[in-house]
Amino acid sequence: MKVDVLTLFPQMLDGFLSESMMGRAQRNGLIDLKVHNLRDWSTDKHNTVDDRPFGGGAGMVLMPKPLFAAIEDLQSENAHRIYMAPDGEPLTPTLAEDLSQKEHLIILSGHYEGIDERARQNLIDQEVSIGDYVLTNGTLAAAVLIDCFCRFLPGFLGEEKSLTNESFQDNLLDFPQFTRPADFRNMPIPEVLLSGNHAEIEAWRQQQREERTRERRPDLLKDSQDEPGN
Ligand code: ADE
Repeated sequence: MKVDVLTLFPQMLDGFLSESMMGRAQRNGLIDLKVHNLRDWSTDKHNTVDDRPFGGGAGMVLMPKPLFAAIEDLQSENAHRIYMAPDGEPLTPTLAEDLSQKEHLIILSGHYEGIDERARQNLIDQEVSIGDYVLTNGTLAAAVLIDCFCRFLPGFLGEEKSLTNESFQDNLLDFPQFTRPADFRNMPIPEVLLSGNHAEIEAWRQQQREERTRERRPDLLKDSQDEPGN
């Protein structure tokens, strides 16, 4: 899978991309990820990429010219072009899984007041939000999106971890985990986990998932009841 990220702050992604599983995925050739500085497509000596909004108001808006030039350069026949924006489609596991199946993604992160609407209308296939809050720019949002869809790439998580039994699978949160020691400062772990009885452990975990979801995220249970067929 090929991913091109277009940002004004490429260095914000340095650590994220080179560390841990994301670094390994690139070294293993699972993902070919390149970060581009939008300023490379500016055409004046000051490397200008933004200007004041028509009609007045605070902040700066990314100009269409460098955006069109950059995306036209990075474009491929199968490119799916995403713009990170607080007013985009909410990021969900379903959306992430869908993106993990694309051949080529171009991810544009905006800044300040946003980007010229003509670029949004003509260059972008999908707009994605990582939550109902506004970040100073979309670069961290792009990192979150990349992390999220990479987990669905076959081989990304390695053998030790699978996508089953994690929060949001089946609209349920994850169950609590414990590791050694079995008794720490007078806090023993639930006995069932030491029983060796896999069926009982499974039943306990399922019950914990349901209880946690009811307590913390009852909206998820409601969502699953709203699904057709239930
Ligand atoms: N850019 C700024 N805030 C954002 C958000 N919540 N999601 C995606 N991109 C953003």
